[in-house]
This record gives sequence, structure tokens and C-alpha cells, in this order.
Amino acid sequence: MKITVVGAGAVGATVADNIARRELCHELVLVDIKEGIAEGKAMDMNQTATLLGFDTKVVGSTNDYTKTAGSDVAVITSGIPRKPGMTREELIGTNASIVKTVAENLLKHSPNIIIVVISNPMDTMTYLALKSTGLPKNRIIGMGGILDSSRFKYYLTQALGCSASDLHAVVVGGHGDTTMIPLTRLATLNGNPVSNTLDAEALKKVAADTMIGGATLTKLIGTSAWYAPGAAGAALVESIVRDEKKVFACCVSLEGEYGQNDICLGVPVVIGKNGWEKIIDYKLNAEEQAEFNKSADAVRSMNSVLSTLTL
Ligand SMILES: NC(=O)c1ccc[n+]([C@@H]2O[C@H](COP(=O)([O-])OP(=O)(O)OC[C@H]3O[C@@H](n4cnc5c(N)ncnc54)[C@H](O)[C@@H]3O)[C@@H](O)[C@H]2O)c1
Repeated sequence: MKITVVGAGAVGATVADNIARRELCHELVLVDIKEGIAEGKAMDMNQTATLLGFDTKVVGSTNDYTKTAGSDVAVITSGIPRKPGMTREELIGTNASIVKTVAENLLKHSPNIIIVVISNPMDTMTYLALKSTGLPKNRIIGMGGILDSSRFKYYLTQALGCSASDLHAVVVGGHGDTTMIPLTRLATLNGNPVSNTLDAEALKKVAADTMIGGATLTKLIGTSAWYAPGAAGAALVESIVRDEKKVFACCVSLEGEYGQNDICLGVPVVIGKNGWEKIIDYKLNAEEQAEFNKSADAVRSMNSVLSTLTL
């Protein structure tokens, strides 16, 4: 098994570190366009191998895609992150050409690759990667919903004083402050709907905190977060390479599912060795479906910006 992570910045290095520690592959290639950064971080990670007890070999590369040849999975994190006050959507002009070039380079050297897209605006970057590579839809997966669901569970643990591992809670829709939809109706604590314990106002606050979860961190840190995004990216890769068939909210191409077409948007999917293998229908109620449609409209309008860019 060989995995490539493109972008050796905060998120890419954290994804790579998580992958190496869990020995998800024999060889992990870290690529960055900035001279030396990927080689340096790869060397640093290799020097933790005896301390952490892993055998994954980490290889750094300054934009040399021949080193990625034969990769089974790649994670794209290259591009700029947002700064305080910015939305994820404002990154499109810079990140679209980066993601398109990177996806095409990956495919050239690894025709059977499964691509996980993390760069923002993630829903539009996933759509772009799908269109520009022409890969079968199951092999392009956007990572956003896993992270947002994890933040949703974090805020629920704060409100309930419970263990995070007892919670099931999912965020669907777009990966934007105003486009994501924390499904409070379906959130459960060991099977017991959280709405049996939290009143409507408390649930509304949890949902609102979740939606600005990324912005809250960006304001505190001065740039976007990396520990949870890195862990979320690695969890997704793990379910692919170990064929775990875990259900995660991921951004995938919809062809009529959840009432949408010609768009990549976050829905619950089964993740296994073929990429995303099946979309699960959570049977949204009318109010949730209306929110999902609104989210799709916003992402579609962001996708339409792609045609105005020279890529
Ligand atoms: N989807 C999510 O849930 C999620 C979560 C957090 C961050 N993000 C996004 O991930 C991206 C990376 O964030 P970060 O905090 O790691 O940023 P960062 O600035 O720390 O790292 C980005 C890296 O990409 C590299 N890069 C730029 N152009 C490249 C190219 N053409 N080829 C290879 N490498 C290139 C840069 O040199 C840099 O090292 C941002 O777009 C951010 O918004 C997404």
C-alpha cells in the first residue's frame, strides 16, 4: 500500500503523521511545491519511527510526482488556508488552479488512485477534481463532513457532559459556515435522541457553535486548524485502506440522491476499498431537506465561479 499526501503544511503534515503512526501503508509520499519542506518534514517524521514504533517509510518530494507513482490513495491539502475573518469560499481563486494541477499530476502517475480532497472551498474543489480527472465518481471523496461531525460531537459533549464516544451525530450539506447542516434531530447518545435531554434552545446553540467551529479556531489560532482536520483525513484514509466500511459524512457526487444532481455535497456514505461505496439515505424531513437544497444552491453558485477562472 502506498499513500501520497500533497501539501506539507499544517493539515497535510498532520494527515501524514497520523497515517504513518497508524501504519496505514508501507510508503507515504509527502509532496509540496516549496523547496525542501516536504523532505524536511518527512525526515522529521521518520525520526519518530523508533520512538512511536512504526515501519511506514515517509518520503519527501519537492513537486516531483514520479515519486508518487503507483499510489493507491492520495490526499490533497495543497493551497492557502483562510485567515481570521475570511470565509472558505474566498480561497477559490488561488486554490482551484492548484487543486486541478495536483489532481491531474497524481492521476498521470497513479491511474488507479482514490483521491481525498481537503483543500477549500472543499465542496467546489471536490467537484473540480471529479471533472478535471474524469475519474469514476466513487474515487473522488471530499473531506469536510467527518470533521464537522466531530466538532458537532465536541459541542454536544460540552452540553451533555457525556463521553464523545457514546455519541452519534452527523453534519450533512456543504462544508461552509452557512451551508453545513448539523442534524440535531438524528443525534443520539447511546441510541437515546439527544433531544430527550437538551431543549430546543440548547440544541440550536450546539448547531450554531458547530457551524462556526472552524471560524472560532481560525480566530484563536490566526490560521485554520489542523489537528482535527488531520485526524479526520487519516480516519477517512484508514477506512479505505483497511476496507472498514465505516459510515462517514463525505462530499461525493450526487446523481439524484438527496434530490440533487451534478454537484458534490456532504451526505453519509460507506467508505471502503473502492472509495465511497454507497450513499445512505437518512430520510430527511421536509425542513432538513429544504436546508439541504439551500446548501446545494450555495455550493452550486460557488461551482459556477469555476467557469470564470482561467485554470
Ligand atoms: N476540508 C477541511 O475540513 C479542511 C480543514 C482545514 C483546512 N482545510 C484547507 O486545507 C488547505 C491547507 O490548509 P493548511 O492549514 O495545511 O495550509 P498551509 O498553508 O499550512 O499548507 C498548505 C501547503 O500547500 C503547499 N502548496 C501550495 N501550492 C502547492 C502546489 N501547487 N503543490 C503542492 N503543494 C502546494 C504550500 O506550500 C503549503 O505548504 C487549505 O485550503 C485549508 O483551507 C480544509
